[in-house]
Amino acid sequence: MEKVDVLVIGAGAAGLMCAINAGYRGRSVAVVDMGKKPGRKIIISGGGRCNFTNQHAEPSNYLCSNPHFVKSALSRYTQYDFIDMVERHGVEYHHKTLGQLFCDESAHDIVDILLTECDWAGVGIHLQSEVYKVNKTDEGYIVTTNGKDFQCQSLVVAAGGLTMPKLGATPIGYKIAEQFGLNVLPTCAALVPFTLQDQDKQRFDGLSGISVDSIVTSEDTTSFRENILFTHRGLSGPAILQISSFWKAGQSVSINLIPDYDLEQRLQDIRQESPQRALKTALSHLLPKRLIERLYAAEELPDKPMNQLNHQEFKDIADYFHNWQIKPNGTEGYRTAEVTLGGVDTDELSSKTMESKKSPGLYFIGEVADVTGWLGGYNFQWAWSSGWAAGQVV
Ligand code: FDA
Repeated sequence: MEKVDVLVIGAGAAGLMCAINAGYRGRSVAVVDMGKKPGRKIIISGGGRCNFTNQHAEPSNYLCSNPHFVKSALSRYTQYDFIDMVERHGVEYHHKTLGQLFCDESAHDIVDILLTECDWAGVGIHLQSEVYKVNKTDEGYIVTTNGKDFQCQSLVVAAGGLTMPKLGATPIGYKIAEQFGLNVLPTCAALVPFTLQDQDKQRFDGLSGISVDSIVTSEDTTSFRENILFTHRGLSGPAILQISSFWKAGQSVSINLIPDYDLEQRLQDIRQESPQRALKTALSHLLPKRLIERLYAAEELPDKPMNQLNHQEFKDIADYFHNWQIKPNGTEGYRTAEVTLGGVDTDELSSKTMESKKSPGLYFIGEVADVTGWLGGYNFQWAWSSGWAAGQVV
């Protein structure tokens, strides 16, 4: 049995950040992870370039049953603190869109930064060590893995959520929380593509690869403006991933496919200029031609020249495109989701330290807690901020 001051379960973004900070405070720290490599999600993130933070990160970018919970950690370790660390290590990065920062070269650069810092802080990383069991003792906690066992004063659970089981996602974090009497809120996949009802699958057959700048709105009136993407399985793209976190089974989403101008006015203008032009031709200049063809094949739009459309038809056509209704069949689930909604109830944790109120010395950081960021680097920022906050006290 190895004795350490701090044991961290999970060598992901949150766990490594916490370990580094605890190590610099002179604590003896071990990190255990069942994977062969540390930071596996970091490596595949952002298309291999890791969208490591967002310049605009603030509490309103997070879903949490207690929206105030995230304020303390996010304000004490901000996006600029992480950017400083990236710059200190000489890693080049760039701004892509909407405040999202990506590595110029590779997501491996972020893992290398964290591992270098772990090395400087004297953190021991034990890979291929799957945690099976946790017991409380008078001195702290005993953690049983498939390798060695650990005894620690502070136990930090940074075991992530349920997304991407092939990358080692397990429910161990939730199980430990429940073992110590903490409430765990129901979980579901978020930042995830939608699957479509059978009739919509047929309707959009052949549109795979088409992307349209849109405003997508959920029934709770949350909206995002980014691209939507038709795929062979359903609908994806950043605007769809964003809204998936706000969508509930059985609900519809409304998609404004022409967000930049009033379509009714535009069509009236086109009628003035070219009265004989077919509506289909006019629409094919405003939206991807293949999409318009599919909508005509489904007989959803009048097949007439512009000068034969009446006032109400202009209104209806504009409303159809500004307020396109889709009722998803479901989502692709944890297999392809970027994050898990729900998790360890933040009412059970100190927002300053991430320590459990019921079980002193037990901490929950990163995605295992009920904190879910928008798409765009916000989830890593939560991992850095919550990991840093716990790292100051464990
Ligand atoms: P994380 O899941 O990273 O780490 C948990 C660790 O615990 C894992 O290494 C796992 O092996 C280990 N573990 C689990 N059970 C265990 C057990 N029983 N024993 C031992 N170890 C165990 N976010 C963002 O901000 N920008 C982005 O670009 C992206 N891109 C992105 C792409 C894809 C494909 C996904 C799936 C996700 C993203 N994300 C993202 C989300 C981001 O990756 C996620 O929010 C963080 O990785 C969460 O970090 P954690 O450290 O909390 O958990």
